[in-house]
Amino acid sequence: MTEHHADTKLVHGARAPTKSHGFVNPKLVRGSTVLYQNCAQRREIGKKRLEQEQIYGLYGTETHFALEDMVASIEGGTHCQIVSSGLAAITVPLLAYLKSGDHVLVPDSIYGPTRRFCDTTLRRFGVTTTYYDPLLNEADLAQHIQPNTKVVFVESPGSHTFEVQDVPMIARVAHRHGAKVFMDNTWGIHIFQPFRHGVDVSIQALTKYVGGHSDLVLGSITVNTEDDWEWLRTGALDLGQYASPDDCWLALRGARTLGVRLAHQERSALTIAQWLATRPEISRVLHPALPSCPGHAEWQRDFTGASGLFGIVFQPDVTYEAVAAMVDALALFGIGASWGGYESLALPTSFTVTRSEGTGRFGGEMLRLQIGLEHPDDLIADLTQGLTVLRSQTRTACASPPCLADEMTDLYRADQLK
Ligand SMILES: Cc1ncc(COP(=O)(O)O)c(C=O)c1O
Repeated sequence: MTEHHADTKLVHGARAPTKSHGFVNPKLVRGSTVLYQNCAQRREIGKKRLEQEQIYGLYGTETHFALEDMVASIEGGTHCQIVSSGLAAITVPLLAYLKSGDHVLVPDSIYGPTRRFCDTTLRRFGVTTTYYDPLLNEADLAQHIQPNTKVVFVESPGSHTFEVQDVPMIARVAHRHGAKVFMDNTWGIHIFQPFRHGVDVSIQALTKYVGGHSDLVLGSITVNTEDDWEWLRTGALDLGQYASPDDCWLALRGARTLGVRLAHQERSALTIAQWLATRPEISRVLHPALPSCPGHAEWQRDFTGASGLFGIVFQPDVTYEAVAAMVDALALFGIGASWGGYESLALPTSFTVTRSEGTGRFGGEMLRLQIGLEHPDDLIADLTQGLTVLRSQTRTACASPPCLADEMTDLYRADQLK
């Protein structure tokens, strides 16, 4: 049978009406103790901790398994483990695979709490971390690999700065040296197929697009070999990892509409990113689908779409105070740290970008935008009034109206009305 598109998998995957009394959706199963028919059955079932068997609450219920099947199918993996948060989805495999004396390579553009975990907990357990330029070439990567390098971590595009990494090249080099490739694929959801590009362990914060409604916190770890599954599953169970079935059920419900949400958010975000690129207050738009984003060529080669999260860099003379005034003035954008929900968010980020390799090469205040399901015209109108506030706080050429970009706004509207 031909493989279905992700949109179809999201609708038809992980459903077994015969198991749910004919209802469309899988059951919400809560529980800790499972009663066995007799001791012989108990002995048999105890050997099945790697399988989707309801042995004990910690090992998962039908509800967990349904979500695991869904995530594995859209990412193209064979097994998935649901954990309590996106951050746990990062820390659990690192703890499961690494031991004292090992070395891990992490991109300098990494999500902040991953860096903190490497610099504190992993260091305390005798694991060393080297941060690498996310855009480095093959020869430079090979130089960073040490005999004890066990994991090369990638996050593409990078948190806040959106560098798209050359994952196939990184996987080639890592595998040549016997290291595993872990990827934070939260931005990529299903539009980046990690296993086709050489990733061994794919991580997602389901909190973001899969949940999609800003009302749950969950993570997934997906692999595609039995060997990796044994490492991962054993590590997750040993660490007592568990997620509430209620949250799994909600995430599964969110997944059903992920296709349409993502299509809308992709379209709107691109429209808004292109419009922002015309504004004189902005020096650069960090949207992987635009040539101004580092790694745009890799995005074109490896991704089948874009999500709704991107960054902008202001002109060097725009101050943090001006950006904060703009963000405070926005009516439709909340100020929030997460993303992937149905609502738009704006977050000043330059002060949160931590670099050890000097790869923060953007030279201006930064703002991260999460584009939700609102109409893009309304979001553009809101950003337009926000930029007016920003200009009023900035003594530069772009502060003197009328700006070219105001005319562009009118042009954009005229175009929409056709
Ligand atoms: C790229 C990335 N990975 C992982 C996480 C962690 O997810 P959670 O908030 O579910 O722990 C986040 C959260 O913002 C994130 O942005």
